Amino acid sequence: MADTPAQSFDTLLTRREMLRSAGLLAAAAMVPACLQAGGQTTVPEAMPSKSIAAAGPQRPTVALRATRTWWELRPGLVVEAWTYNGQVPGPLIRVREGERVRVLLENRLPEATTIHWHGVDVPPAMDGVPGVTQDPVRPGETFVYEFEARPSGTRWYHTHMNGARQLDGGLYGPLIIDPATAGRRVDREYVLVLGSWVTGQAAAVPWGQPGATGGGMMGGMGVRMGGMQEMMGIAGPAYDTFTINGKAFPATRPLRVRGGERVRLRVVNASAHRHFDVRLDGHTLWVTHTDGHPLASPVPVDALSIAPAERYDVEFTADTPGKWPFHALDPAVEAAGLKTVVVYDGYQTAPESRDERPTAALRWWSYPLGRGRDILPPASGTGRRWNLILGWGMMMAPRRWTINGQTYPDTQPLRVRAGDLVAVRVFNMSPDSHPMHLHGQSFRVRAINGHPLPQPLVKDTVDVDPMGTVDLEIVAHNPGRWLFHCHKVQHMEGGLATLLDVT
Ligand code: C2O
Ligand code: CU
Repeated sequence: MADTPAQSFDTLLTRREMLRSAGLLAAAAMVPACLQAGGQTTVPEAMPSKSIAAAGPQRPTVALRATRTWWELRPGLVVEAWTYNGQVPGPLIRVREGERVRVLLENRLPEATTIHWHGVDVPPAMDGVPGVTQDPVRPGETFVYEFEARPSGTRWYHTHMNGARQLDGGLYGPLIIDPATAGRRVDREYVLVLGSWVTGQAAAVPWGQPGATGGGMMGGMGVRMGGMQEMMGIAGPAYDTFTINGKAFPATRPLRVRGGERVRLRVVNASAHRHFDVRLDGHTLWVTHTDGHPLASPVPVDALSIAPAERYDVEFTADTPGKWPFHALDPAVEAAGLKTVVVYDGYQTAPESRDERPTAALRWWSYPLGRGRDILPPASGTGRRWNLILGWGMMMAPRRWTINGQTYPDTQPLRVRAGDLVAVRVFNMSPDSHPMHLHGQSFRVRAINGHPLPQPLVKDTVDVDPMGTVDLEIVAHNPGRWLFHCHKVQHMEGGLATLLDVT
């Protein structure tokens, strides 16, 4: 056991968690057999306590079997979920930067699927975009994904087909790439994957959080006018349940901490449409990574807004003993499940404490607060420049979303040479925000609404406010045809996508 990857992580949960993931490593080799025996009746425990170390030279291939499975979101609320290995989220895959990852996808779903490795600089054929980089994997077929794990950070994997059904159905999981050299040390960490569901068994929770948007220069001003969105027919899916690691409160697993510990939360928004405004009462959260990429110094906040597909690593010091909720700030979203509790050892039976400060009094995360560390390779080619105007079909065609007036695949690809430095100004002339994601390589966020950031953030997904602009800079270091699209699935499927073509 001495060389199990779990023990070489510089930071990982508790000793018990380590043993558990080491056990899973052995189990991964036999996944197909156990699952066949298990059938559809057992409901595995919420993830990602079961982790899988991905394939190194002597390690087995990770098997991800996509199946439909009965899944209990909370007592009495059972749905037929779309799962990897019968669980939501899919297994936590954990590797060290530079290691080879080999994943066998077996499609046991009633329709075709693919896997995209979000935030990983994969080779084009492994990128999982049907019709661009691979054929859809049809029911009964298999596909082997193989790539080198880089760059380090909080990544995730998810289906890239029929997102409203497959992604919100549960086909997503965390992928953590530990730095090759020691990263920031913490005493304990948790991965929290946020999800949204249309179960039809509860009342829909309208869109309309009180908070800021990630890119917002307008913190706390309520950029997301819920009623307007409904009126315009762009409110998104009628979500009625929200989950942390596949479970809605009170079924969420409490986060145990010990007084004095430094604790990291890796928060992933896997929703196909919803932003989440979250906080941990009683504690300052220090933002250390944006989409897995390190900041030069941590930023203290009380609350943060996370757009679809974004990730934040945050740390807190366990110096306020008690039982504290980690929850959505919108009371309706919290009531619909987006809540867990941080429980200090010795406080299991204590009443829950709450911070009643008004939302407006909170320090909110926003992009301009962060100073990124420039981890991208230097550009060697020429400078290029594009303006992309994001538009909407308006009341006549509320499901049509455009880039420079065109819907994908009629949008103009951005054709560049490997090594070029590509400046892209994204101007959002539509009434909804767009979390824009680039496949194949991360980018610098240079300016928000015309205001340059002191040190560009490095991200792979950037939320662009209605009537806002974001200036991006891409070092086109990874040759291939890369999708650049809005991560709200309805917008992507409505045409809001183009290609970065790097030759
Ligand atoms: Cu996370 Cu094209 O996706
Ligand atoms: Cu969008």
